[in-house]
Amino acid sequence: GTPARRSNRTVTLTIDGFAVTVPEGTSVMRAAALAGIEIPKLCATDSLEAWGSCRLCLVEIEGRRGTPASCTTPVAEGMVVHTQTDTLRRLRRGVMELYASDQPQQGLAGPMNRGTPLQRMAAVVGLNAVRYKAPEGGRMASHAEPADNPRFRPVDASNPYFAYDPAQCIVCNLCVRACDEIQGTFALTIEGRGFESRMRPGMAGEDYLSSDCVSCGACVQVCPTGSLMEKSVIELGLPTRSVVTTCAYCGVGCQFEAE
Ligand code: FES
Repeated sequence: GTPARRSNRTVTLTIDGFAVTVPEGTSVMRAAALAGIEIPKLCATDSLEAWGSCRLCLVEIEGRRGTPASCTTPVAEGMVVHTQTDTLRRLRRGVMELYASDQPQQGLAGPMNRGTPLQRMAAVVGLNAVRYKAPEGGRMASHAEPADNPRFRPVDASNPYFAYDPAQCIVCNLCVRACDEIQGTFALTIEGRGFESRMRPGMAGEDYLSSDCVSCGACVQVCPTGSLMEKSVIELGLPTRSVVTTCAYCGVGCQFEAE
């Protein structure tokens, strides 16, 4: 879900027929989660303010036009929200299909992204096949030449702990925001525009190792696609079980995943 806002006032709304009372300023997504309703999402995390970039968490609100993102829409008194209509199911599958169509192996069975949020969400929204095929050689005629096109940069394995594969990046911006807002390092940026944009570490020509990256791993933690992935996970696969623990030395509260 998205971070809750603090307020003494509460708001009561209806989500999928259930009355929910939450603090004023809470997002529709979090209110739904509190009612036990999980809305599909890719870019909302508990650690960063909602950004609304992936468009997977769309909902319908009676009396409002369109399908707003539930992660960036605050609750309102008397609001009536629907999270599981046929229209929403179709839209979410369409959004996921576009993401998957732009992934190596179309995001559904790729070895690098097995078990990632992207793949889990593909299953949640019921995406079983992708109708849009990648162009020959992975490149459309309208694309910039590979040398000038950030989407065709090779895997950056310069960091000792993790690798970055631009081909799997969906430009959700979570890694850039984690680097800025959680770590305060400002080592990452988005390069290029639209279909040809990708995350890039450092200045032009730099890789992860020569950038300002301090190897904190905040970017890897938030990446929903496997574009940023620990080298141990690439080699051994994702852990099957998570254990949350805090190391006794410093009390920062890092969380570890353990098999
Ligand atoms: Fe709301 Fe991504 S989770 S737009």
